[in-house]
Amino acid sequence: MRVLLAGATGAIGRPLIRALADRGHEVLAVARDPKSNTMIRALGAEPVNADVMDRDGLLRALRGRSADAVLHEATALKSAGRKLTDADPTNALRHAGTAHLLAAAEHLGASRFLTQSLILGYGYYDHGARPVTEEDPFGIEDGGYADPVIAGCRATEEQVFAADLDGIALRYGLFYGPAAFSDMFADLLRKRIPLVPVGGGGVISWIHVDDAAAATVAALERGKAGNAYNIVDDEPITWRQFLDAVAAAHGTPRALAMPTWLLRLAVPYLGCLMSDTTLRVDNSKAKGELDWRPAYRSVGEGLGSASR
Ligand SMILES: NC(=O)c1ccc[n+]([C@@H]2O[C@H](COP(=O)([O-])OP(=O)(O)OC[C@H]3O[C@@H](n4cnc5c(N)ncnc54)[C@H](OP(=O)(O)O)[C@@H]3O)[C@@H](O)[C@H]2O)c1
Repeated sequence: MRVLLAGATGAIGRPLIRALADRGHEVLAVARDPKSNTMIRALGAEPVNADVMDRDGLLRALRGRSADAVLHEATALKSAGRKLTDADPTNALRHAGTAHLLAAAEHLGASRFLTQSLILGYGYYDHGARPVTEEDPFGIEDGGYADPVIAGCRATEEQVFAADLDGIALRYGLFYGPAAFSDMFADLLRKRIPLVPVGGGGVISWIHVDDAAAATVAALERGKAGNAYNIVDDEPITWRQFLDAVAAAHGTPRALAMPTWLLRLAVPYLGCLMSDTTLRVDNSKAKGELDWRPAYRSVGEGLGSASR
């Protein structure tokens, strides 16, 4: 297939270009800065310089081109403000960005659209011991701090499922691996910034970016229209277990514990994510329908591998 990939230079985008190229797909890779073009070509894709938030500019950049599918993997989490709102760049990319990429899909004649979603769309609370499946309620705001994230995930999924093409949503676990959260947390551990909530924090599901990329290619090839898939590994873990695995793999000091009230005060989103949320997620639908298995069944395996 010929695919347009938005978010091509990001933590998931780079392994995804390689995984698509390995399967013989042709990739048109969106990047705002032409300085990324050399890297994009080296990964095996053709660059298209455009800003997803500029609908007219995006369509202009795609003039005369065609594609079979569009993949929306664009986020801007590093630019999030201290207080989450619908106007945050990542939320804007989920709301308006999805609409603009759907317009691009129509322009390109694409009949398939995959969008990045997130397991946190199931809600930032304690879901208990039962793994959450795609049948569980998704995208329901509860008046909490992270409502804009939940609304953004719902907005991108709803638009894609309502569009006149084959729409699929990928509800990724938290990303670790090169350029993803494990690298980010390793930097914080090196600086000895106290991180883990006292008691170890909640339990959550992760996915190595290489496995997320492989699942995305599988969904492009075999995913059923109108479906969401949980893309997570086999072993949900506590934040203490995650940070200990990061410290061991990166050779940093262990995370210092922080009282929950202080974490909430200092970084409200991390308080909500690390303390309030326990979210074990079931991946059997992706395994069954996409014929996909995570190469790294746990964070320990993934961070112990060469591709950490
Ligand atoms: N499931 C998850 O846990 C999850 C999901 C997403 C991100 N993350 C993590 O969050 C961290 C930071 O992520 P991030 O979102 O800042 O960066 P990122 O993962 O490095 O990638 C963001 C991508 O989106 C593209 N993008 C952003 N705004 C765009 C726009 N207006 N138009 C076109 N493309 C746009 C960027 O392209 P250009 O800048 O090249 O234009 C880049 O390719 C990473 O550690 C990542 O792993 C985790």
